[in-house]
Amino acid sequence: MCGIIGYVGENQAVPVLLGGLKKLEYRGYDSSGIGVLHPEKAQIVLRKSDGKIKNLEKLIAKQPFPKSTIGISHTRWATHGAPNKVNAHPHADGSGHILIVHNGIIENYELLKKDLKKRGHTFKSDTDSEVIAHLIESYYKGDLFAAVKKAIKKLNGAYALGVISSYHPDLLIAARIGSPLIIGCGKNENFIASDAPAILDCTRRVIYLKDGHMATLSKSQIKVFDFNGKVVKPKIDRITYSLDAVAKQGFDHFMMKEMHEQPDVLKKMLASCIKGKQVVLDGWNLSEQQIKNISNITIVACGTAYHAGMVGRYIIEALAGISVNVDVSSEFRYRNPILSKKSIVIAISQSGETADTLAAVREAKQKGAKIVSICNVLGSSLARESDAVLYTHAGPEIGVASTKAYTAQLGMLYLLAIKLAMVKKYISTSEINTLITQLKKVPSLYTKILKTKTSIAKIARTNSHFGCFLFLGRNINYPTAMEGALKLKEISYIPAEGYAAGEMKHGPIALIDEYRAVVCIATESDTYEKMISNIQEIRSRKGKVIAIATEGDKNISKHATHVVYVPKTHKLLTPLLAALPLQLIAYYISVKRGCDVDQPRNLAKSVTVE
Ligand code: F6R
Repeated sequence: MCGIIGYVGENQAVPVLLGGLKKLEYRGYDSSGIGVLHPEKAQIVLRKSDGKIKNLEKLIAKQPFPKSTIGISHTRWATHGAPNKVNAHPHADGSGHILIVHNGIIENYELLKKDLKKRGHTFKSDTDSEVIAHLIESYYKGDLFAAVKKAIKKLNGAYALGVISSYHPDLLIAARIGSPLIIGCGKNENFIASDAPAILDCTRRVIYLKDGHMATLSKSQIKVFDFNGKVVKPKIDRITYSLDAVAKQGFDHFMMKEMHEQPDVLKKMLASCIKGKQVVLDGWNLSEQQIKNISNITIVACGTAYHAGMVGRYIIEALAGISVNVDVSSEFRYRNPILSKKSIVIAISQSGETADTLAAVREAKQKGAKIVSICNVLGSSLARESDAVLYTHAGPEIGVASTKAYTAQLGMLYLLAIKLAMVKKYISTSEINTLITQLKKVPSLYTKILKTKTSIAKIARTNSHFGCFLFLGRNINYPTAMEGALKLKEISYIPAEGYAAGEMKHGPIALIDEYRAVVCIATESDTYEKMISNIQEIRSRKGKVIAIATEGDKNISKHATHVVYVPKTHKLLTPLLAALPLQLIAYYISVKRGCDVDQPRNLAKSVTVE
């Protein structure tokens, strides 16, 4: 949520900042701004704009910056204060010499603001962030580092922070608690950024700044400290993915590109984790005895990752016979989860920075549980806070609506469940082998489904005028229905509900008439007949039905208005296959309705506020 990029070096700052902002736009896109230090005068120069970064770009073309070699910039996802030019970052202090960009939420900003106002400070924006600039100003006595250090001690909440000042023309300061920030190490230039894509074409050497750490950057030096000012030796990591991974590569949208990456992501995952008849999970460090001792598993996650977790419950219970609870991360702390040393908590998160999931993990840790995370982003906060990390290696996901990250999470959950099943001996070896054989076929089945996208597009367009959608599924495909509904509402803004099909008669059936479309997951399963009954109930009330069915099912077209076929697979694996047509349906409806597929309104890719 919100993107930060900062630069200090021997080159022009503005092109680096603008280029970086474009790569971070997926993190928030309601307003943006760049601030640099004037190369000759002791002044800061600011340009801000509401809306997307292209608006800022136009403004800069009309009002060019002076040639500066140091600056900070920000793309915003509004929390405090409307998304407009005044509330856009960077924010300056009262003197106009100190400039900050902030990602996160300052929870005690009202108190701080009140106090600062009493001391004569006047504020321009409605943001919580502006207090940081004023607080630094209030402590500034010629040493910017000391002032920032004092100021952040007063802040409660989460932040990634970038600070520059016209008093110190070769100094960029960064600090973080709870919001991601990396430092890019260049040659005669250094960077700060919320995420690696922003600086990838400048450097691949990065420091993942840890919570409670701050850093000073000049063009030739990076120093890292804890919040007490004690020097910390930073670890420099190397980003290995290619620049292509963060480009559209000829696709109209990142979402389409990422849907097409699914066969490859899964193929690579299976190739690296299935060795002969064994499942080897890199990062898994539980002994056989520890697995045998597991009393229960709780899965915590948000949004799409939560739906992956719901599928995970069905798989783990079916294959390993371990009782599984699934919690929305943001609610986990509000009940009294009963956990012990024999409990495993699986946290699922693409970004590894989701504040709610991190909070749930901290709660679970306190209660003695062991934390296993399923995560996509290397070096993320979640990965660092977990006892074991299973990386999905899906590559950067830029489209705000999660696609390849979801199926990769599912893939990892299948592998984990098989691993647990092998140790617990809950199902027979031959059942495990059959499942593994079928799992290995899924990447090529994805390719097969993608080849039918033109006919899926046709069905999607035919139904794109409906003002309300219902998604129904049973058993292991109940979460699939929830995920289908989430995908559609996110990117097309059509109200869509995901329901367990058995629940339809307990309420949602009241919605059904000729103006509703219902997507029914009716793949081959033990509950197939029941799904057919649901479809009949919908059709007899004039509702339109798009059924997702198994290839070879001749019966379904008698009942449904439209049918999308997915190849035959093991019953337990159908969520992996059914996800893809649902993603495609959401995509084509969004495009047809003229929505912004990759950057849907009000959303952000990485939700770093609670
Ligand atoms: C939906 C979507 C979100 C995320 C959720 C959790 O398409 O992307 O619902 O799944 O915000 O994000 P992560 O997985 O980063 O924790």
